[in-house]
Amino acid sequence: MKRLMFLALAVTAATTVFAAENDWKMFDRRLGMFIHWGCYSVGEWHCQELWRRNLSRADYEKRFAPNFNAAKFNADEFVAVAKSAGAEYIVFTSKHHDGFCMWDTKTTDYKITNTPTKRDVIKELAEACRRGGIRLGFYYSNPDWHCSFSNNPKSSHQLPMQPGDKPDMEKYIAYVKAQVTELLSNYGDICCWFWDIPTNIDRPEMDELVRRLQPGIMINDRGWGNKKTADYSTPERDYAWAGGNKYIECCDATGVQSWGYRRNEDYHTHGYFTRNIDSYLATGANYLLNVGPKPDGTIPDEAKAIMAKVGSWMARVRESYRGVENAPELVGKVTHGEKRTITRRGKTLYVHFPKGIEADGLSLAPIKDLPKKAVLLNTGRELSCEVTDFPWSSKPGSAAETYLHVRGIPADDLANECVVIRLEY
Ligand code: GLC
Repeated sequence: MKRLMFLALAVTAATTVFAAENDWKMFDRRLGMFIHWGCYSVGEWHCQELWRRNLSRADYEKRFAPNFNAAKFNADEFVAVAKSAGAEYIVFTSKHHDGFCMWDTKTTDYKITNTPTKRDVIKELAEACRRGGIRLGFYYSNPDWHCSFSNNPKSSHQLPMQPGDKPDMEKYIAYVKAQVTELLSNYGDICCWFWDIPTNIDRPEMDELVRRLQPGIMINDRGWGNKKTADYSTPERDYAWAGGNKYIECCDATGVQSWGYRRNEDYHTHGYFTRNIDSYLATGANYLLNVGPKPDGTIPDEAKAIMAKVGSWMARVRESYRGVENAPELVGKVTHGEKRTITRRGKTLYVHFPKGIEADGLSLAPIKDLPKKAVLLNTGRELSCEVTDFPWSSKPGSAAETYLHVRGIPADDLANECVVIRLEY
């Protein structure tokens, strides 16, 4: 009897694990890897070089795509870099503003298979993602600087009119639909669709098409008048938190100056990324971290190193984002310029410091109870704890208030990494 009960339990547990896998939801405090790669990488300057440097379309298209030879591209390596960071999905630029298509489309000749690269890199990436157990989503730019009929005066990021241009929005919408249809029919399950640059034209049929082709897909709100009907918002770099009841995915790049590959790029610090990632994941959002591969198809060493370092930190603190809820009532008043977020799973609390930690010990008021154990997730070391009265919580003539005091944090050593502490009750 006892044995049967044990088995029954085991079966339930197995089913639960399986269901959880099937129920994978994109928004669950996850990290994703953004990839900005296109023929603009040939310029090694910025993904919007055509527009920002006032080049002509004819000149750009003569110099960039014909020299795009990604002979060293290996899709499994992209997946490995994502995994090294602890990312669970990849969002890939299928078409950026320059209109160059990274798949073997039938809608235009301006595509990767017509360059010296000659390969459908999206097909290879989709297969590598499936092999590696990483979900795939697509970024798609609404502005299209290649297309002679795409000009949209209601939108930003438009190329000045080029010789022979004849704007025709209905024709462009049909073109976009054909491209969306290819991308969402031919490359397996796609977890998200990232429209870029809102068109300010209301076309609910665009999101309807995306959802019809990929039921369950998540769509961001930079689309065709979909601000209120999309699934998620995508605040960018240091943009303020985009609140509301939608899902949030913040995006930022390893490089400071460009999303696409840039030769003399400035790279952000480990402290910057871990603190930013934590500030989103700990408050319920996702975070998308971008790399810009080189024209030869390899990811720059600096970006790879950043991803691996982020991944080593993620592996140590990830439990503080899994299956947790927020406990703002336990944060209290925070002093010394610190910011604190608390997540909890059952009787375990996680204290996050997304703006850094400014001392080697701290009072965790309003928490009054002594945990069984306090662990600094960054190092795995146990921290010493007491419940005590503090000078600031003791007033002459009244009984002192006592609170949890945690000590022995190697704050200076961790100045360049977001600190997370686990309190076990
Ligand atoms: C902005 C930029 C674009 C970039 C995107 C990433 O919209 O214009 O180049 O791809 O942000 O979110």
